[in-house]
Amino acid sequence: MAAEAGSAAEGSGAGGGGVGRSKVDLERLRQMRVARQPIAMLTCYDYPTARILAECKVPLILVGDSAAMAVLGEDSTVPIGMDFLVTITRAVRRGAPGAYLMADMPFASYPDVPTATANAARFMQEAGADAVKLECDGRHVPIVAALAAAGIPVCAHLGLLPQRAGQLGGYRAQGRTLAAAERITQDAVNLWRAGAALLLLEAVPDAVSAAVHEKVDCPVLGCGGGPSCDGHVVVLHDLLGYTAKPARFVEVMGDVPAAVRAGVSAYVAAVEKRSYPAAKHQYTMKSER
Ligand code: KIV
Repeated sequence: MAAEAGSAAEGSGAGGGGVGRSKVDLERLRQMRVARQPIAMLTCYDYPTARILAECKVPLILVGDSAAMAVLGEDSTVPIGMDFLVTITRAVRRGAPGAYLMADMPFASYPDVPTATANAARFMQEAGADAVKLECDGRHVPIVAALAAAGIPVCAHLGLLPQRAGQLGGYRAQGRTLAAAERITQDAVNLWRAGAALLLLEAVPDAVSAAVHEKVDCPVLGCGGGPSCDGHVVVLHDLLGYTAKPARFVEVMGDVPAAVRAGVSAYVAAVEKRSYPAAKHQYTMKSER
C-alpha cells in the first residue's frame, strides 16, 4: 500500500501549480505568487483522500482544525486537540508526500512561546508538516517571531477566526468597516514583518485582501478572501457536498454523499436479496489426502 501511494504521488508530481516537479516548497509558492499563478489549496484529513488530492496535483494542503466539524461532527473547532491533529496530519503526509503540507494549531495550543514552539515542532517532527497555521491578530507577533526564529514556517490566519467565533459573535465576515479593515491590514503586515511566511485571510472583503497583498511580499491565501489573494482554500467537505449550508464563498463542485449513498444502498440491497455473497466471493475447502 505504502509503495503504491508513493508512486501515485510522485508520478503526479503531487505538486500542481502546473510545475511537474516533485515536492512543493515555500520557494515554489513564492514563485507562484510572483508569476501570478493561482494556488489551489484544500483541507484534507485522511490518507486515502490525500492520495486523491495528490493525483489531482493540489499543491497546498491544510490539515485544518475544521476536522472537528467536518469529520467529528462537533459544533465548533474548539474541542479538537493536538494528538488527533498530529495523527491525521501524518496520515495526510503519507498520502500526499509531494504537497506543501500545512497543519493547523488547534485551540489554546499556542498561549505562549514555549508551548507554541513545542506544539508546532510536533507537527514538523512527528507528522512531517511543512508549516503550521495560527489564528492570529497583532497580539501574536511575539509567538510568530519565535516560531520563525526556530525555523518553523508560519501561516498567520486573520479575519474570521473560527476558534474565536464565540468572541466574534458567530461566524461572521470581518473587516467590513474602514476601521476593522485597517486593523486587519496592519496586523497582517506586522505578522509578516515578524516572520510569517504565508498569510491567510478568511471571510474578508476583497479590498482588505488587496490592501494586504500590496503591502507584503509573501503568498496571501484566501478563504473567502476574494480574487486579490494568490491562492484559495475551502474545506473539502464543503466543496464535495457534505455540508448542508456552506458559507457563501463556497462553490459546491461535487456530490460525494450521492456516490456513497449509491454504493451503500447497492450493498444493502444485495445482502438482503442474497445476491451477495456470490460464488466468486466464497472460499472452498482444500482437498485433503
Ligand atoms: O481549519 C480550517 O479548515 C481552516 C480553513 C477554513 C482556512 O482554518
